[in-house]
Amino acid sequence: MSLEKCVSSLLANDVCVLPTETVYGLACSALSVDAIERVYLIKGRPPTNPLIVHVLNHNQASELCVTNKFSKLLANVFWPGPLTFILPKKKCIPLQLTAGLPNVGIRSPSHPLFRSVLKKVKIPLAAPSANPANKLSPTRPLDIVESFGKDCPEILDGGPCELGIESTVLDLTTSVPSILRPGPIGQASIEEVLGFPVNCTSGGKATGSNSGIPKTSPGQETKHYAPDTPLYLYSNINVMLNSKHLKIRHVMVLPHPQVFVNVSKQDPFSLYFSQTGNPLDIAKNLFSTLRKADKLDKEIIHTSLFPDNDELYSALNDRLSRAASVRI
Ligand code: TXA
Ligand code: MG
Repeated sequence: MSLEKCVSSLLANDVCVLPTETVYGLACSALSVDAIERVYLIKGRPPTNPLIVHVLNHNQASELCVTNKFSKLLANVFWPGPLTFILPKKKCIPLQLTAGLPNVGIRSPSHPLFRSVLKKVKIPLAAPSANPANKLSPTRPLDIVESFGKDCPEILDGGPCELGIESTVLDLTTSVPSILRPGPIGQASIEEVLGFPVNCTSGGKATGSNSGIPKTSPGQETKHYAPDTPLYLYSNINVMLNSKHLKIRHVMVLPHPQVFVNVSKQDPFSLYFSQTGNPLDIAKNLFSTLRKADKLDKEIIHTSLFPDNDELYSALNDRLSRAASVRI
């Protein structure tokens, strides 16, 4: 669809799909209860899982939620970009958007098309990832058409998403900020700007000074972002390559083609997350490669966690863990 049509649809409280630098989002006015309810319906999203709001800058965020010195400091460095803050909402944000919670998720996307739309509509836009609930997030327009079929909402085509995984979600409502969802902006980068350690509670695995605190984000449910084919996730690549579970009718997803594979007896089909092994390339292709593996209609997809020596790998491991049916 054209930019003009997209803008008029959103102003008419309609829903359409917009590109962001992370993944595609199913966008609507963040101020219209009708439009918000339609987004939940289209996604099949449980009403307990809140949407996030997209704005142009920290000033616009301050009109919608109670910002603070940490949000200001972090926005100065990371906005526009893939960092979502959880902050106390103001009255103008409907409770339907926050699933009844007093706090709202908010970020400023950097994708030029999304920003052009924000500039033209002059209202904040709610946009969860444009996938049916609990399925893999879409990083290309075709992913959205394939998953919604004839009910597919109109799409503003921005090509493949640059980053490929969803934004980091940072709760700024507690005395010590807490990463609820790891993403492209890593814990160390956030701590460097704030000047003190933050917690990380992703996947229910709490770390930091507040370990053991309960899950506070519905998106932290461990089963999420999953392909239809069962996914076996190994603790590392060698455990996978030596696995007795690998069979001919299976598919194995490796980081890049240079990995030495010697599983000739079982000989599963191989796919690669990237040609280079560069974490940025792997992130960009993570969901699309899992979709490709899913479409092969094999019995099992095998893949392994990335080494924990790169901040981006932690976010990728979080997504793989949520997609996994079996951990080995
Ligand atoms: O990169 C992104 O964040 C993408 C693009 C489209 O912007 N959006 C996205 O939205 O991933 P969604 O709805 O798929 O994920 C938002 C996450 C969910 O895990 C949700 O539970 C959490 O943010 N979240 C939203 N509002 C929250 C709140 N008030 N308190 C706690 N968690 C919240
Ligand atoms: Mg999502």
